[in-house]
Amino acid sequence: MLRGPGEADIAFTVNGAPAKVRAAPRRTLLDTLRETLALTGTKKVCDEGTCGACTVLVDGRPVYSCMTLAITCEGKSIETIEGISKDGELHPVQRAFIDADAFQCGFCTPGQIMSIVALLRENSAPTEDDVRRAVAGNLCRCGAYPNIVKAGVSAGKRKS
Ligand code: FES
Ligand code: FES
Repeated sequence: MLRGPGEADIAFTVNGAPAKVRAAPRRTLLDTLRETLALTGTKKVCDEGTCGACTVLVDGRPVYSCMTLAITCEGKSIETIEGISKDGELHPVQRAFIDADAFQCGFCTPGQIMSIVALLRENSAPTEDDVRRAVAGNLCRCGAYPNIVKAGVSAGKRKS
């Protein structure tokens, strides 16, 4: 519902819990997650749709949250890196990243992981090429790609 010239009430679910925010129509999902909802696991790097560090899932699909307006997420399900572990256990993709040493600075890591989580829901036994395609929109300045690909393949084996 619009709240005047500058703001609208927006309702969606974040990591399975209902959330309501009031935001200007131009406010991005990324800023809403990080600054309004204090979910800072999703990283802001380029803020212009080129790096993938801000990747979250909207209705199960990976999106760049810096290029997604919060107002367009009304009624949708948002998943962030904070929501994928269960009962204190890391998600298999998180565990695989640790075991494969698939990060250095870690800034790209939440986005990489969310892209691979989405992949594994559609393809539980991905090949290296499947993982490469899934993270094609996630840049890693540290060049951890070989181990990111290994982690994605190994996470598929863990899930099955
Ligand atoms: S911060 Fe969104 S694509 Fe780089
Ligand atoms: S681990 Fe540093 S950018 Fe990927």
